[in-house]
Amino acid sequence: MSRSAHPAGPRHADVLPEGHYSAPPADLNALDPRVWAQTVGRDGEGVATVGGIDVKRLAEEFGTPAYILDEADFRARARAWRTAFGTDADVFYAGKAFLSRAVVRWLYEEGLNLDVCSGGELATALSAGMPADRIAFHGNNKSTGEIERAVRAGVGRIVLDSFQEIVRVAHIAQSLGRRQRVQIRVTVGVEAHTHEFIATAHEDQKFGIPLAGGQAAEAVRRALQLDGLELIGIHSHIGSQIFDMSGFEVAAHRVVGLLRDIRDEHGVELPEIDLGGGLGIAYTSGDDPREPHEIAKALTEIVTRECEAARLRTPRISVEPGRAVVGPTAFTLYEVGTVKALDGLRTYVSVDGGMSDNIRTALYDAEYSVALVSRTSDAEPMLTRVVGKHCESGDIVVRDAFLPADLAPGDLIAVPATGAYCRSMASNYNHVLRPPVVAVRDGEARVIVRRETEEDLLRLDVG
Ligand code: LLP
Repeated sequence: MSRSAHPAGPRHADVLPEGHYSAPPADLNALDPRVWAQTVGRDGEGVATVGGIDVKRLAEEFGTPAYILDEADFRARARAWRTAFGTDADVFYAGKAFLSRAVVRWLYEEGLNLDVCSGGELATALSAGMPADRIAFHGNNKSTGEIERAVRAGVGRIVLDSFQEIVRVAHIAQSLGRRQRVQIRVTVGVEAHTHEFIATAHEDQKFGIPLAGGQAAEAVRRALQLDGLELIGIHSHIGSQIFDMSGFEVAAHRVVGLLRDIRDEHGVELPEIDLGGGLGIAYTSGDDPREPHEIAKALTEIVTRECEAARLRTPRISVEPGRAVVGPTAFTLYEVGTVKALDGLRTYVSVDGGMSDNIRTALYDAEYSVALVSRTSDAEPMLTRVVGKHCESGDIVVRDAFLPADLAPGDLIAVPATGAYCRSMASNYNHVLRPPVVAVRDGEARVIVRRETEEDLLRLDVG
């Protein structure tokens, strides 16, 4: 991660403040392919383009701020995951990262399944025609109504998250005359962070049933006894934005240990194992994520080896990447409104969105990059903080970033890698309207989620 102190003084900064920045990049105009969507480049005039369309045109046609999504890149990444895991495994895209009906159709066409975790996500998936048997339903507190809809629709699996839910789903399925396919989500005692994992008591969280102390084994015992349930496997999700595979290794080892205990106790070999999502992406040039084929190879090897050691047939593996599919495929396009230089500190660049379209910086101290995209510039780098228009000083989009010193109101800047958890976590704070998602492909742009309007806001406010 790029968190070193800055060595040499750029403009505006003889004494630089504490920050998360490293040295300014050698070329401020470069758009590093690691953090930008695949088809992003610059045209002959220096204007950034995506899918063959320049960002000035996109801003004129769709306004700013806007999430601009590279459809070809999305499809390519989805396909890469699908191909990497082959036909003996399933890839469930985690809809929480970003879900819309267009996305559901792309996933369907590219052969992926879908993980949903609320009635709203389920409704979106079904309304776009995703076959129910390709949907997994997650959540630590699914309502009775949500469970009923999922069972009636015939979802491929419900991932059970508590003892109460085991009984609840069994009861609902039975009363509907169904036998619902389910997995049990367990916590394996591994917490995975970006570059590390801490093998401590990480059962201390709201998701899953702990393996430790035999609780997960007891959950399996109960699920196997209930007629409304067909227990097909065990699920484990260890965290988010993970680069290091060792957390998965420990998780697979422990889940396979449970499969072995189940075989020994019940004489049943569960046919599936789901290792969740959480694979990291590059938000800045300092991040170095693994490719889907490397991840698939590593996970398959780990599970196969563990199963051989336990003398079990290797179960069908599934994974649930969200961020790693959609994250890198979109950027947020903003117009600069004000540029405020604070002597000896930094320059505050205010854009026309902010924490309502990207809460991740405020919430997780997430790092992003940013670039001037409506033109190139030969001006010196200046240290900036890109902030939004909300009435809150924590309204920061990019905490520390270098932009050209001639940046001015009216310039367009863009923040890459905002495809995951930005639109899906967007809010109406200050009654700021949520931006549209514009999909771009082969010289054509179309709105897949439209911009919110003041009428939308007022419609909910029934007086
Ligand atoms: N599967 C399960 C069971 C999950 O809980 C999650 C994420 C995923 C898959 C997908 O994880 P991904 O591959 O996208 O990392 N809002 C946070 C992330 C929360 C993720 C919650 N669960 C963020 O903005 O980073």
